[in-house]
Amino acid sequence: MKNFLITGGSGFIGTNFIRHVLATRPDWRVVNLDALTYAGNPANLEDIKQSWKERYRFVHGDIGDAELVGRLFSEENFNGVVHFAAESHVDRSILGPEAFVETNVVGTFRLLEVSLKARRAGTVPDGFRFLHVSTDEVYGSLGAEGSFTEQTPYDPSSPYSASKAAADHIVRAYHRTYGLPTLITNCSNNYGPYQFPEKLIPLIILNIMEEKPLPVYGDGKNVRDWLYVIDHCEAIVKVFEEGNAGETYNVGGEAERQNIEIVQLLCDLMDERLRRTGKKSSRKLIHFVSDRPGHDRRYAIDAGKIKSQLGWSPRYHFEEALATTVDWYLSHMNWVESVRSGEYRKWIEANYLDR
Ligand code: NAD
Ligand code: TYD
Repeated sequence: MKNFLITGGSGFIGTNFIRHVLATRPDWRVVNLDALTYAGNPANLEDIKQSWKERYRFVHGDIGDAELVGRLFSEENFNGVVHFAAESHVDRSILGPEAFVETNVVGTFRLLEVSLKARRAGTVPDGFRFLHVSTDEVYGSLGAEGSFTEQTPYDPSSPYSASKAAADHIVRAYHRTYGLPTLITNCSNNYGPYQFPEKLIPLIILNIMEEKPLPVYGDGKNVRDWLYVIDHCEAIVKVFEEGNAGETYNVGGEAERQNIEIVQLLCDLMDERLRRTGKKSSRKLIHFVSDRPGHDRRYAIDAGKIKSQLGWSPRYHFEEALATTVDWYLSHMNWVESVRSGEYRKWIEANYLDR
């Protein structure tokens, strides 16, 4: 059995990743360290806790708590770290950037420190690796043409992307300076089950369901490249197992869409399922609101490196996987209710009050 520290495993991508590796890698055991912020939901993995008792351990704690992380390293003899834990929402970073610096920058630094100490003390097995899960947002905004490669200079716009960029630089420095075997993945926008309904796709699905206005920032023509979360999980496993230490891999879905196209598509998918036709079409709920400050216009990923060097490419087709995602939300209303706490309602009021 190989033993892995997964940080932020109770969030959106971490939950999908843990489910994916437990199902596809019989020799992986995982320890999920999660602080259970508003975005982390222990119920996401409750069934896993029961059915995979020997291969799954949950630890409630902060990645910035060096003593706790140090203790886990001495107890568990980790073969590697897959680091998801972060504050991840751009709009929240605009209203309250401090938590982003604390977790994304300082928290990542502390994890690296503990990993390095453990490696120097010889308390991790040979082949130990540290994979940092990052975002394409570190590269900033594109015009109408071109795409981000691993050589694109960093140019982040929001406190979120700036904090991820800072973390990427520190991770790279720990490889170059101290020889820690680190890997970085910079991925485009994910969608799929278990995504917290503050992000565009789940927020729009739930607002359509409840016939609430569908807030589209600015002119709705900002472009994102969308990747189904399972494709991202497969890319992370590939990079962890076969990537070269010290290197960065861009991951993208070849599915560039304007926000307004996404919202219209979701209206149509939901209308089919809710039998809303003609004048009842959910498209009438679309509501253009004031733009996000510093809103990046376009992201696009050149995933040529991971494709040619590691043989990864996205398996899921955008429109099909989006329909699967819609069906998942419609059939998991208990989950939706469980994450829409009082805290969630307060956030929605604060973010959309003046828009
Ligand atoms: P998320 O917000 O859904 O989940 C984050 C998880 O981290 C939560 O479970 C939260 O409780 C936990 N966490 C936060 N602060 C912590 C701390 N100090 N200590 C321990 N745990 C803490 O985020 P996500 O969408 O699953 O993103 C996961 C990672 O992937 C992030 O690093 C993000 O930057 C990156 N990423 C996300 C996307 C995307 O589209 N969602 C795309 C590319 C990269
Ligand atoms: P989001 O899901 O927050 O991801 P990110 O900002 O990391 O790309 O937003 C995706 C796009 O959708 C982004 O251009 C902002 C836009 N957006 C809206 O138009 N309305 C909304 O209510 C939200 C949450 C996002």
